[in-house]
Amino acid sequence: MAKRALITGVTGQDGSYLAELLLDEGYEVSGMVRRSSTINFERIAHIQDRINLVAGDLLDEVSMINILKEIRPHEVYNLAAQSFVQTSWNQPVLTGETTALGVTRVLDAVRTVDPGIRFYQASSSEMFGKVQEVPQVETTPFYPRSPYGVAKVYGHWITVNYRESYDLHASSGILFNHESPRRGLEFVTRKVTHGVARIAAGIDQTLALGNLDAERDWGFAKDYVRAMWLMLQQDQPDDYVVATGETHSVKELVELSFAAADLDWEKHVVIDERFLRPAEVDLLIGDPAKAEKTLGWHRDVDFPKLVQMMVEADLALVKSQQA
Ligand code: NAP
Ligand code: GDD
Repeated sequence: MAKRALITGVTGQDGSYLAELLLDEGYEVSGMVRRSSTINFERIAHIQDRINLVAGDLLDEVSMINILKEIRPHEVYNLAAQSFVQTSWNQPVLTGETTALGVTRVLDAVRTVDPGIRFYQASSSEMFGKVQEVPQVETTPFYPRSPYGVAKVYGHWITVNYRESYDLHASSGILFNHESPRRGLEFVTRKVTHGVARIAAGIDQTLALGNLDAERDWGFAKDYVRAMWLMLQQDQPDDYVVATGETHSVKELVELSFAAADLDWEKHVVIDERFLRPAEVDLLIGDPAKAEKTLGWHRDVDFPKLVQMMVEADLALVKSQQA
């Protein structure tokens, strides 16, 4: 019998890669989508006929319970969230409702419908914020620096609490930044690679950015969704840091991206205060030793390869749009 999985956030970057992986592993995959006035299934269009899309919302626990009763999944991957840090200062309450309390709604639906369901929570390196040690590991104390980070800390601890209170197989993946050609255009990697492609095509002259000194541990999303799946295949639930163990500045990202299109970044990049944040996470670098040892996880794509892949994809995308 095929295993059944439910993904919340299936229309997002990670949801689309995870759905592909689970289909390859022989799962029956369901994806929860929220109602909107326009369809936004671009990232899953190529697999849409192989997944079962169900309507629900993290803000509505009734919908979660009904979906679980209908699908009876063996595994639930909770990827849905208000995931853009900058927006979390403008919409702190919505961010808390979705990214924090939404986790409780899914966990409680799991507990109510079938406590045997295995659960994955998409926790984040943003929880480390003003980092208390370098590199960050599973035991590093959290010091979030944004309403989003605060909400993710809640989501992490409610996952641990439901695991300990109700003996749920609930795991939390503390994932560091991961990117891909499917990344949303507002995040800095994609903003830069897409911006480079538009400049190369003569559409734009400049690219406005914020803090070029911030450093991130950037990996490839397709590598990271494999870690999510591996966590739910373990006998025991646990928490894992998933990272590359390398850090790079936004400036390095900019230099590499413009160079990949034979452009001089200093002629095109301007600093715009609108993209600076009220509080910044200056440095993130994770140690994935536990995930490597226990899960047998490793990443295939390094930073230069990731940037090259994203620039090439955006050059092709912009060219096809022009044609
Ligand atoms: P993403 O591309 O922004 O996708 C977010 C998904 O959540 C979308 O499918 C979105 O649906 C859905 N969603 C938002 N609010 C919802 C609601 N109220 N009810 C149901 N669905 C809702 O994010 P991602 O990069 O794939 O990240 C996946 C998860 O991992 C998120 O929880 C994120 O916070 C976390 N995370 C990401 C990273 C990273 O570097 N990518 C690192 C650590 C943790 P719509 O399409 O309808 O908007
Ligand atoms: N978005 C954006 N736009 N970021 C910029 C810009 C800009 O124009 N200029 C500089 N940055 C800097 C930000 O200040 C931040 O320090 C860094 O680039 C990365 O920003 P994002 O790409 O927006 O990602 P993030 O690190 O804030 O959050 C992402 O990673 C988290 C994991 O650490 C998101 O995917 C979160 O959902 C995820 O949890």
